[in-house]
Formats: sequence, structure tokens, C-alpha cells
Amino acid sequence: MTDRLTVFDTTLRDGEQAPGFSMTIDEKLRLAAQLDELGVDVIEAGFPITSDDDAEAVRRIAAAVRRPVIAALARCARGDIERAGRSLAPAARPRIHTFIATSDLHLERKLRITRDACLAAAVDAVRLARRYTDDVQFSAEDATRSEMDFLCRVIEAVIDAGATTVNLPDTVGYSTPDEIAAFFTTIRTRVSGADRITFSAHCHDDLGLAVANSIAAIQAGARQVECTINGIGERAGNASLEEIVMATHVRRDRLPVETGVVTRAICATSQLLTAVTGEPVQANKAIVGRNAFAHEAGIHQDGMLKDRRTYEIMRPEDVGVRTTMVLGKHSGRHAVQKRAEELGYTLTRFELDRAYRRMIAIADRQKHVSDAELQAIIETLQAEERAAAREVETKAAITLIDHGQAEYGYGHGV
Ligand code: KIV
Ligand code: ZN
Repeated sequence: MTDRLTVFDTTLRDGEQAPGFSMTIDEKLRLAAQLDELGVDVIEAGFPITSDDDAEAVRRIAAAVRRPVIAALARCARGDIERAGRSLAPAARPRIHTFIATSDLHLERKLRITRDACLAAAVDAVRLARRYTDDVQFSAEDATRSEMDFLCRVIEAVIDAGATTVNLPDTVGYSTPDEIAAFFTTIRTRVSGADRITFSAHCHDDLGLAVANSIAAIQAGARQVECTINGIGERAGNASLEEIVMATHVRRDRLPVETGVVTRAICATSQLLTAVTGEPVQANKAIVGRNAFAHEAGIHQDGMLKDRRTYEIMRPEDVGVRTTMVLGKHSGRHAVQKRAEELGYTLTRFELDRAYRRMIAIADRQKHVSDAELQAIIETLQAEERAAAREVETKAAITLIDHGQAEYGYGHGV
């Protein structure tokens, strides 16, 4: 049986919180419209208590984007929840997402409150949020470093208070996949009422494990993942939406879930985020990096040209891009021939050999050889061939004339 996985996008909230990624209200609106096109289920549009702009962004997104659920973040505090509720008033499908830390480290050192006070605040917040909407999400910040008995108590209490989704963040990206799987399994089996709600994973990437941990959580029964476009977010970022979605797509055999994401819109969404924030994606980033479907090595290009499945596990068109064969010093003759054909040239073996050697000579001096440069190489060598042919013809004609003159007894200078 294939379950539906809810994709909760937090690019506009957790992503936007990261240095260098802040966006204006209009930019957030553009991105929210694109996230709607992408088919995400939930857009976390902001954290209204933090600023008037954030509250206004949530309000305008809620008014304009009608299909997905629009979520607003709020601490477990009356003022936060009331502000979130007011900002979400125009939404067709509003969700209040309220959170409080549950680890002793955060309770003692940051919030300076007792476990009992934490539990009471969580319950009060969920009850208050339910006055604004039936769709209430509770997050136990730093859940993966929380003491299990206490965490289970909090989860049971917020379910009783009316939470419909319980999110268990790996706030500081500390967990490993096996731990996360055991963590979700334990909670789902121990918490009474667990079957009435959706469990959600929210993993940060401090150890580069956010996607692996999210996948482990899905395998252990989480049916919502929180993620961001290009993996942006606090510190090292959040789990990358495109990587999780494509993992569920490509590895259906391991992940019996399906999402509503229109995968063909993935790269356009990533590019829009880059354009809006001015923060580029690393070239080798999975799925959306410019090298994700680029091949330069001769052996790989040869394999690709014979059967793309040799070096591509998914079709680039499925995420909205095309394969690129980069001509460089590692490329082989097969790639040069193919690119030449695409540019409209049919090369003889002799021409191909010469074009290839000239291409390598250029690639040794610079990184890549562009289409224009390959075109120039071919045009030049074909012009040289025509000149050489004309020279041969001219020489042959002169020889003929010489022979004719010799036959009739004329000589040069006559
Ligand atoms: O990382 C985290 O714990 C969060 C919560 C507010 C959900 O972003
Ligand atoms: Zn987070």
C-alpha cells in the first residue's frame, strides 16, 4: 500500500531565517505562487510575531494562494498564537504551527522553565490555536535530544488538547538515520492516540544527514516531512525538498509513499529562489546543481550516448532540465561527434579526429569548449580542407598543362 506523504515547505520561514536569505513580501508572494505550482501540500509562510512584515507576508500569501494549507509559526505563547491566527484569517486552509523546546538543555539553559511548565504551555497553546482553526501542528523543538518519557508525555497531552500533526524536529542536526528511525518507532508505539495524528520530521543538516534522517523517519512511519527548496535554512540548512521528493520517486521500492509534487517544476522553483535571494546553489548539489545532469568524462559520455541509464538514475526532464554533455579535456571523440551532429555537421573519421585533437588543445588551456568554439574548430578545419583540395586541383591542372605543352613541343616562357 502506498501512503500519501505530506510535503511541508518551510522555505519562507526556516529557510528565510538564514543569513543572506531574507525576502521582501513581494518576493515571498512570488515564491509562494511557485510553491503552489510545485504542488507542495503545506506552505509555512512565516512567523508573524517576529515582525509586521512577516505578519503581512503571511496575510497576503493566505489571501492569494488558495490550494495548499498555509501555516504560520507561533511559540507556545498567547500573543504569538493570536497574531498567527489573525494573519491566517484570509486563508482557505489555515494551520497554526506552535512550538516549544522539550529537551532539558533548552528548558534549563534557554527557556529557564520546568518540564511541568513546558507541558502546560504546550497544552494551553494547542487549545488556544484550536479556537482559530481545526488544523493545529505542535512541534517539540530539539525533540531528538529530549528525554523520551517526558517527550511522550508532552505528545500525548497535545494530542488530547487537539493537535492534528506532531512534528519532532532534529533541531540541531545531531541524529543519525538509525537513531531517527528508532526514535519515531518508539514514539509511535508508546504514545496513546498516535494513530489519530500525523507524525512529521523536520531535520537540520549540521552533519549533512538531514535528507537521510528524513528518509529514515518516513521509513519509520512519519507521513509529513518538513523541508526547503535548495535545502536552505538555519546554519547548514534544512532537509532539501527536491532530494526527498526525488528519493521517494526514484526509490519507490524502498519508500512506499507518494507526494503531490509536480517534479517537472523542481528546477524552475530552485532557480527562482536563487534569483530572488542571489544565493547560488553549489554546482554539484543533488537534483538542482548545474552539474547534477552534466557529463564530461569520455567514458561517461560514451556510456550516456549508448544508453543514458548507464550514468543517470533519473530523467533530467522529470525535474525540468536537460542532460548536458560538457566538452572538456576529459571528453572523448564520441561526444565531439554527437555535439557536431547536433550543431548540423556530419564529420568524416578524419575530420572527427582533427576536430577532437583541436578541441583537447583548447580544453587544456581553458576549462570547457563551448558550442561556438566547436563550431569554429569545425568551420576552420573544413575551410582548410577546401583550400587544400583547391591547391591539389590547381596543382593537377598545372601538371596537365605542363604535360600538354610538353606533348605539343611548347615549353614555359614560350
Ligand atoms: O528546527 C526547529 O526545531 C524548528 C521548529 C520551530 C519547528 O524550526
Ligand atoms: Zn528548523
